[in-house]
Amino acid sequence: MNRTPRKILVTSALPYANGSIHLGHMLEHIQTDIWVRFQKMRGEQCIYVCADDAHGTAIMLKAEQLGLPPEEYIEQIKAEHERDFGGFLIEYDQYHSTHSAENRALSELIYQRNRDAGYIVEKEIVQLYDPVKGMFLADRFVRGRCPKCDAADQYGDNCEACGATYTPAELKEPYSTISGAAPVEKPNIQLFFDLPQFEDMLRDWLASDALQGSVANKLREWVEAGLQPWDISREAPYFGFEIPGWPGKFFYVWLDAPVGYMASFQHYCERKGLDFDEFWGPESTAELHHFIGKDIINFHGLFWPAMLEGAGFRKPTALHVHGFVTVNGAKMSKSRGTFIKASTYLEHLQPEYLRYYFAAKLGNGVEDFDLNLEDFVQRVNADLIGKVVNIASRTANFVHKAGGTLSSTLDNEALVREVQAAAPRIASYYEQLEFGKAMRDIMALADKANHYIQEQAPWTLAKQPDQARRVLEVCSSAVNIFRLLALYLKPVLPTLAAKTEAFLRVPPLTWADADQLLGEHQIERFSAMMSRIDSSQINAMLEASREEKEKAEPAPAAAGNEPATAAEEHISIDDFLKVELRVARILKAAHVEGADKLLQLTLDVGNGETRNVFAGIKAKYSPEQLEGRLTVLVANLAPRKMKFGVSEGMVLAAGPGGEDIFLLSPDDGAEPGMEVR
Ligand code: MSP
Ligand code: ZN
Repeated sequence: MNRTPRKILVTSALPYANGSIHLGHMLEHIQTDIWVRFQKMRGEQCIYVCADDAHGTAIMLKAEQLGLPPEEYIEQIKAEHERDFGGFLIEYDQYHSTHSAENRALSELIYQRNRDAGYIVEKEIVQLYDPVKGMFLADRFVRGRCPKCDAADQYGDNCEACGATYTPAELKEPYSTISGAAPVEKPNIQLFFDLPQFEDMLRDWLASDALQGSVANKLREWVEAGLQPWDISREAPYFGFEIPGWPGKFFYVWLDAPVGYMASFQHYCERKGLDFDEFWGPESTAELHHFIGKDIINFHGLFWPAMLEGAGFRKPTALHVHGFVTVNGAKMSKSRGTFIKASTYLEHLQPEYLRYYFAAKLGNGVEDFDLNLEDFVQRVNADLIGKVVNIASRTANFVHKAGGTLSSTLDNEALVREVQAAAPRIASYYEQLEFGKAMRDIMALADKANHYIQEQAPWTLAKQPDQARRVLEVCSSAVNIFRLLALYLKPVLPTLAAKTEAFLRVPPLTWADADQLLGEHQIERFSAMMSRIDSSQINAMLEASREEKEKAEPAPAAAGNEPATAAEEHISIDDFLKVELRVARILKAAHVEGADKLLQLTLDVGNGETRNVFAGIKAKYSPEQLEGRLTVLVANLAPRKMKFGVSEGMVLAAGPGGEDIFLLSPDDGAEPGMEVR
């Protein structure tokens, strides 16, 4: 095979430097790493780069909160990220940072070329300004009362109570979340990347085969809805690169983030003496593949190709978009302990278990990926230990007893050839990111091999001295199959492959090695290669994730347009503890004029304090039934003005309402004012 290798540059999205790596990130980096390892095994010139995405308001605030200069903070996080990725055997050729000299130079270059070509426009816009802090305020830093429903303490862009969206200028009684001061309006110039000028180019790009069908469709919807100029500048204070010629203005983090791919690669070129332009020049014949999640397709599918085009660089060959990781069918959740950090996983489990499980269930689509923990244990144990490793562990010892040399004649050459013949098919699955199909194919071959071994039962044959030759030929067949399967699995399971290479005394397996078999060849004694997962390890990992959550510091304010990771659908124990529940005695219950559902309750809440509360329990209870009874009050609920008066709390009841309502009552002996926990 004497063809020129493909030149392939591969990236995973650059993780933000304001948080730890979690299993959601790992899906992306494992998917990328498997593809890269596969290409390298095939002899292609494949270079895998990544970096930390170190800029933006969120990171600036996080550093501030920790009392660290941002430069120091991002360096610590980068070391942590690299350690975690390394723990999962992710093998970058370069891991860099967007806060680097290369990235500054390239971001400026891309900006200047676009500006010189007329793709950067200036616009004056009115922005809210914090007069105390002396800074412009991003939407998220302004709070106030909702202009629609009057709910207090809402964000500057939308109301969590009624769902209304608006501009921060429309908020009632707005205040800066940074200083508490009332913001003032101030005109300000912002720089925009003029995306609409790229509409024709983008339509062609969306029609090319660079994108998965559903991704192209989604992006086309945005183009149809009308492209808008994109605001690429942010005001100081901002952690990032100052825009040349605009003191006090910085590149928006999403401008220099994808440029970070180039910067990381440039750093690699400098180390290795490679030609940068061969990969990024407009006439480049190299391939450029970006692996990303579905939440960032607008940046990679619209802004990025347009910026590259505008600056005279090549466009990506392909975007490979994946879905989001869910755990046991639900969004990763801190309260359930399923928001699992990469480092927490690694304290309890081997990286290859997860690499295999991800591979086994990944296709090339954008659907979310469910990490079902029971299925995970079952699948890994059944496939890797029960099927693959089992082939060697049941046969290798008989080779060892016969002197440790395989026989060149095989007992079942047909089966060995069948496994060999699968190589091109499995290769094309890897190439197309159909890892699940590749794994199923490999496991079906492993099933056949186990079936064959079971049938031959070398452990029985070995008891008959005249069958010694057969035993060796059966086991040599099995060991050859094991070698081929370990080779096919090598992109997913590099450690298993390394152990196999040592066991077989062979140099690192490449894809082309599937063409050959091991004939008369000395091997090592077999020693255990992988252990089963015990479900107690899973429980320990979930428990540890829950504990981490408890000791975690408060989350930093979400900032700017930077997407927050995995939103929380459960409240935390801290949220729960904010609710003050107290035992109360109903001193008096009365009908309310004109209200058909309400009773007015006068409650003794201890310490001589009484409260007036309206409760919708009239259909079930008469006032006489209630007087003297104990119940539970939400004591720190904001007083609510109702048509009939002010309600100072809420009593707890169970049931759907109407006549099906059951007032909660503590047992006798409880005293008004006691805290309920
Ligand atoms: N910094 C940007 C990317 C800049 S690329 C030039 C960013 N960072 S991120 O840390 O929020 O996300 C990094 C990658 O991880 C993204 O591709 C994102 O889709 C992916 N994931 C984050 N959470 C995820 C899951 N729960 N599941 C799968 N992937 C997820 O976006
Ligand atoms: Zn509202």
